Amino acid sequence: MQAVVLVGGQGTRLRPLTESRPKPMMSLVDRPFVAHQIDHLVRAGVRDVIFSCGYRPDALESHFGDGGAFGVTLNYVVDPEPLGTAGAVKNAEPLIHADRFLVLNGDILTDLDLHAMLAQHQATGAVGTIALTPVEDPSAFGLVRLHGDRSVEEFVEKPSADELRPGEPYRINAGTYLMERGALEFIPAGQKVSIERETFPAIAATGGLYGYPSDSYWRDIGTPASYLDANVDVLAGAVTTEAPTPGPYLAAGVSVGSATIGSDACIGADTQIANGASVQRSVVGARVRIGGGAQVRGALLGDDVVVEPGAAVLEGVVIGDGAVIGAGCEVRDASIPTGAVVHPDGRVLAAS
Ligand code: GTP
Repeated sequence: MQAVVLVGGQGTRLRPLTESRPKPMMSLVDRPFVAHQIDHLVRAGVRDVIFSCGYRPDALESHFGDGGAFGVTLNYVVDPEPLGTAGAVKNAEPLIHADRFLVLNGDILTDLDLHAMLAQHQATGAVGTIALTPVEDPSAFGLVRLHGDRSVEEFVEKPSADELRPGEPYRINAGTYLMERGALEFIPAGQKVSIERETFPAIAATGGLYGYPSDSYWRDIGTPASYLDANVDVLAGAVTTEAPTPGPYLAAGVSVGSATIGSDACIGADTQIANGASVQRSVVGARVRIGGGAQVRGALLGDDVVVEPGAAVLEGVVIGDGAVIGAGCEVRDASIPTGAVVHPDGRVLAAS
């Protein structure tokens, strides 16, 4: 079995953190996010992986190389221009030699049972099978409706209340697909094509698309809130990964004075946390300095950030690499640009 991992998106919702790294290279506790997806594939026995890249492919290639150190054979294709989620699969076609392959969105954390999904895919004779995850409120998602035999009846994008049927399960696309080689024929070459909006409805119209409902752990890490939640979930052992648990997680070279570090905190390499500081439910990058008495709670800090003494970085804050939060400043619910300086009077100076 081969797997194509889509790792080429711009990750706009995670800016400014994705200005200096592609989303799949954002850390999830102790390793880049996509390394957990490789671990998941290796646990399922998949050893042949293709990264379909676009935005900042160098960061992926320099970390993962030929994949040997990660237990896989890894090959790369790079979009000549953004090709969308189906275009990026089509672009990998010359490297796909198996009759059947997996496709993973490179921003989904899950411990889905790939063997059980494959068993259903084979039993139904599907051209494509989409893993589905339950949601309480489907109004912000694309609802996937199935027939009794699990073939896809229809996709309902962002359904309004009157489009929902009483008692029906609310299931959405979970970003993991099994495809027969023939599915590639549904994707025109060299064009920007969305797998969700164009390719799947086309396959569904032939009756060859099936859904695989699963209750396994599932989270899309594409927003600051969900990325933070994913880190906290890994630290709590809520999802099967190879990361050390329980938290907190402190990378190599971290120095902590007499500070409070919550079990829901991830601290990047060589970060220094001074006496009296407190870090809770946050992801802190590498080489960050957190000054005496500073508080960091519910926040994402990039690399080389400085939080000066007595500052408070609170719920919903995302701080780009190298930014400085001035002594005594309180910031909440804000996105601080890369290299910006936040002054005690509340002014934000953009990066020089
Ligand atoms: P946002 O800009 O925040 O929406 O993030 P994104 O660019 O990652 O888009 P989205 O979350 O819709 O992408 C789902 C998955 O497909 C992610 O793993 C992306 O890396 C990947 N992806 C999205 N668009 C492309 C593309 O044009 N080319 C490639 N190679 N991958 C893509």
